[in-house]
Order: sequence, then C-alpha cells, then structure tokens
Amino acid sequence: MHTVHVNTAAPYEVKIGPALLGRAGEEIRPLLSAEKLCVVTDETVKGLYLDTVKRSLEEAGFAVCVYTIAPGEASKNWAELGELLEFLAASGLTRSDAVVALGGGVVGDLAGFAAAVYQRGVAYVQLPTTFLAAIDSSVGGKTAVDLAAGKNLVGAFHQPRLVLCDTKVFATLPPEVFADGAAEAVKYGVLVGKELFAQTANLEGKALPELVAACVQAKADIVEKDERDGGLRNLLNLGHTFGHAIEKESNFRISHGHAVAIGLAMMARAAERKGFLPPAVRIDIENALQANGLPVDCDYPAEAIYKAALGDKKRRGGKLTLVVPFGLGDCRLVPVPAEEVLDWILAGKERLG
Ligand SMILES: NC(=O)c1ccc[n+]([C@@H]2O[C@H](COP(=O)([O-])OP(=O)(O)OC[C@H]3O[C@@H](n4cnc5c(N)ncnc54)[C@H](O)[C@@H]3O)[C@@H](O)[C@H]2O)c1
Ligand SMILES: [Zn+2]
Repeated sequence: MHTVHVNTAAPYEVKIGPALLGRAGEEIRPLLSAEKLCVVTDETVKGLYLDTVKRSLEEAGFAVCVYTIAPGEASKNWAELGELLEFLAASGLTRSDAVVALGGGVVGDLAGFAAAVYQRGVAYVQLPTTFLAAIDSSVGGKTAVDLAAGKNLVGAFHQPRLVLCDTKVFATLPPEVFADGAAEAVKYGVLVGKELFAQTANLEGKALPELVAACVQAKADIVEKDERDGGLRNLLNLGHTFGHAIEKESNFRISHGHAVAIGLAMMARAAERKGFLPPAVRIDIENALQANGLPVDCDYPAEAIYKAALGDKKRRGGKLTLVVPFGLGDCRLVPVPAEEVLDWILAGKERLG
C-alpha cells in the first residue's frame, strides 16, 4: 500500500492500493469516534461495490445508512444536496458521526459539500472509484454543487479525514471514463516532469498504485502550499481554462477529462507558436493524450471558446491567468489581458505539423 500525507491545516492520509474497499471499516475506525456513517453513492457504484464497503464498515462496529443518487453530473445540484441533508437529519446523524463518499467526483463533491455544511460541518471520508476522483477530486478539499448558472458555483473547502483509493475498482470503468482520469494524469506529468510524464504517456486503461500515488503527491504538494486557492493552486488548472470553456460550449456533452485533454493540447500548441514550448514537447503531449484515447482538438469556433472562457470564474480584473507549459516540469502562471486571450485560443486551435 502507498500512503501520501497531505499536510493541510487539518492533515490527512491518502492510502492507495488494491482491494482497500474491503478494509474500509478497519482503516476508518481508529480515525473517527462516529457511531453512524452515511454512505453516499450512485446507482452504478452501488451495484458494484456497496456490499463490500457496507460489510466492512459494519464489521468495524459502525451503524450504516445509505443515500443513493442517479449517476452523472446532473445529480450534483442544490435540490439533491437538500434531499441528502434532510436524509442525514432523518437518519439521526449527529455532529460526531460522518459521511462516506463512495463513487466518482460527482458523489465526492456532493457528499463532501453536505459534510461541510451539515450541522456546520461533520467529518467525511473519500472512497474514490474513478481514476479521476482518485488522482484529483478526492484530494484537496474542494467540494461543490452546480447551479443553473454554472458548474461548481457553490461549495466549500472541507478536507476529508481519509482518502482510501482501491486501485482494483478501475477495472470496471468504461474506457471513456478511465480516459477522463488519464487526461488529468497527463496534466500532472506535464506539471511534474519527464519521469512522471513518461509513465502517463500510454496507460492502456490501467493505473498502478505507484502512478496514482505520484499524481496524488503532485496534487498534495501544490494544495499544501495554497490550500484556499490564492495563486499557486492555479497550476492545477493546466489545460482547464480552455477545457472548461469547451465543456461549457458543448453543453457538457464533452466530459470534463476529454475537454481538459483538448484544452491541454491547445495550450501546448499556443505555447509553441508563441515560442515558449519546444515543438518536440508539444508533439509528446499530443501523442500522450491520443495514445490514451483522448481528443486533441474540437470544432467549436475560437470566438465561442473565447466567450465561454471569459465567463470562467478564474477571470480577475480583466485578466485571465493562463497556465503555460515551457517544458515538462516547467509550467508558469501567465496573467494575460482578456482581449489577448482570443489570440492564444487562435494559436492553440490550429494543428501544427
Ligand atoms: N473537487 C475537486 O477538486 C474536483 C476536481 C476535478 C473534478 N471534480 C468534479 O468531479 C466530477 C467528475 O468526476 P468523475 O469523472 O469521477 O465522474 P462521475 O462521478 O460522474 O463518474 C463517472 C461515471 O463512472 C461511473 N463509475 C464510477 N466508478 C465506477 C467504477 N469503479 N466502475 C464502473 N463505473 C463507475 C459513475 O457511476 C458515473 O456514471 C465533476 O463534477 C467535476 O466537477 C472535482
Ligand atoms: Zn480537472
């Protein structure tokens, strides 16, 4: 088993290895004085993994109640949050009890936010079941639901007490859901450097505990220095400024990871055209994304992506902070006046030879 220590104000561990779901009870027991746990999951994950988790929690002496949502982003909303909170109250969860998120990023963000606000905050544990949730959304304490006006518009910082990542569960992921995680893994590779990048370059649908641990470590290193997203944490947005815009422009038909792949490839091409990134590295980035079954371009006009990008919450006083790759392991935050962003998008859209 691999353990990554996340040294935020309230520190916690991310434990990574095969078959950890069956040990959830014994891993959680020493950390919490809770009597009751509410497991939040979605229908798909429930059918695959709830029995294992529930048995383990009950064997460790917890009373367990279960709240199930429909799979997919549409469940990450205010009404579902309200129902979940009412369920916690009706189930008699007290301040010393806890929430367990068993699922992908949708379950994790919703359950984490419910834990952040229920009785002004109760403990929660993340049991991520997608590759993306394992290396990204389960770590770092950002929780949220969507509003009609946009994604993640209401939320809270609330760090989990523990993240238990069972790497065996990736085996049941549909290939395109695995690929969503691969896009974030390639992103960490570009952020951290050659060695990690090489490991992400063609995952063939598999993610070993070592790789998951290296990605989680990369996120932890950044989150520890900027827990509340004041600057440095922006680096994790590599590929996301254009990616979010593309996701939005597609009306969320293009998934987050796929949009990030396009955004990352666009940023690499723009950085090359502007003379910051050597062509060979841009080619490596595009190849890594494609080898993982991810797209590297889209048909939306540059102007549409530009409009959607300006609506992004990362806009600050007429400037957008772009995360620009100068090389593997060398990404920099570059504030760009809003009117120049279109030029970056145009530079990124067109394929290079
Ligand atoms: N909080 C953060 O820091 C952060 C970071 C990145 C993304 N996110 C959020 O994460 C969400 C995306 O997460 P996601 O990509 O995990 O999507 P998801 O939670 O919707 O899961 C994708 C699909 O995979 C299914 N699934 C989950 N685990 C499975 C398994 N082991 N086997 C088979 N099917 C399985 C789910 O039922 C779902 O249909 C978005 O809402 C995004 O905003 C949050
Ligand atoms: Zn992302």
